[in-house]
Amino acid sequence: MMARIVTVDLGERSYEVHIGHGLIESLDAVIPAAASRVAVVTQEAIPVDVVGALGDRSVARFMIGPDEQAKSLSTVEELCRGFVEFGITRRDLVLAVGGGMVTDVAGFAAACFHRGVDVVHVPTTLLGMVDAAIGGKTGVNLAEGKNLVGAFWQPRAVVCDLDVLESLPERERRCGLGEMAKYHFMTGQDLLALPMVDRIAECVQIKAEIVAADEREGGRRAVLNYGHTLAHALEIETDHRLAHGEAVAIGLLFAAELAAELGRIGPERVDEHHRVVIDEYGLSGDLPTGVDPITLVELMARDKKALSGLTFVLDGNDGLEVVPGVERGVVTSVLERFGRR
Ligand SMILES: NC(=O)c1ccc[n+]([C@@H]2O[C@H](COP(=O)([O-])OP(=O)(O)OC[C@H]3O[C@@H](n4cnc5c(N)ncnc54)[C@H](O)[C@@H]3O)[C@@H](O)[C@H]2O)c1
Ligand SMILES: [Zn+2]
Repeated sequence: MMARIVTVDLGERSYEVHIGHGLIESLDAVIPAAASRVAVVTQEAIPVDVVGALGDRSVARFMIGPDEQAKSLSTVEELCRGFVEFGITRRDLVLAVGGGMVTDVAGFAAACFHRGVDVVHVPTTLLGMVDAAIGGKTGVNLAEGKNLVGAFWQPRAVVCDLDVLESLPERERRCGLGEMAKYHFMTGQDLLALPMVDRIAECVQIKAEIVAADEREGGRRAVLNYGHTLAHALEIETDHRLAHGEAVAIGLLFAAELAAELGRIGPERVDEHHRVVIDEYGLSGDLPTGVDPITLVELMARDKKALSGLTFVLDGNDGLEVVPGVERGVVTSVLERFGRR
């Protein structure tokens, strides 16, 4: 079957992302020959069987908890102790089969165990395929905040088998679309016009290019956070009733309004944001009821990307840019107006 291959070009740590249907069958081909043991890290709810595709290697499955709470150091400790018991050595492999939760945790465990063993990602959510499984950011949460402990640990390969998306709940699919809409504004490409395999491959290509240019987020990689400043605040303020991709959709529209207020873009570009996010991707751009703009601004000021004042990724003549030091008063008034639309 037709598959697309996108290379993440990072010198000797380069790897391929395979995108297509029925790819799990030939998973064995991307696994290093020397790996005689494979530790499959996944979740109960994920109906994806990879064991049959792993030939005569010795395989053990490790289940992690169902929600974001399991994205913790104690899960990493549990996994690593399991790896010891199973006998994983530096020649062996961790195989992450799941959404961003699983690939973040399994990737971090792989980065730490024996100071680093290979990991291959099999993302099973749309968000995982277009975003989380690509680029080598791994990590876990602390009680104090999300993704505070982690490592850059690039996978050996990523296999996006679209067949696994059939069981994905509708809401999770929408979350993936939120991130996809973000990519739309990074290149202006009409992703929805493409067949699904190409659409995912284009998103992967956009992310791969940015990661190759700025692996450790010294600069350019930060534009991947478009729409995310408000999104993170909304996730916290709604106690995660709003899912990440849903919050990103709102964050994209708000970022457009803010950019217009600052004279960076005109009204037609704001309209384009509405057209793409709401009409084309079918997402909602409304602030959830009961959220308080002042509290949101407080939360945004605490965002870890806030170096001085409020920091946003904003659209402009030269495309997306990181804009630090946006005045609190401006943000508050645009947000108040945004909430009354
Ligand atoms: N490392 C990165 O660059 C990066 C980027 C974006 C997001 N993330 C992280 O990714 C996580 C979110 O990932 P996500 O949106 O993929 O959600 P997720 O991994 O939490 O998965 C969502 C739910 O869907 C279930 N599920 C997954 N695949 C399924 C399938 N094929 N069929 C049925 N159910 C399935 C899961 O069990 C889970 O309950 C967050 O922790 C976020 O911080 C990381
Ligand atoms: Zn995101």
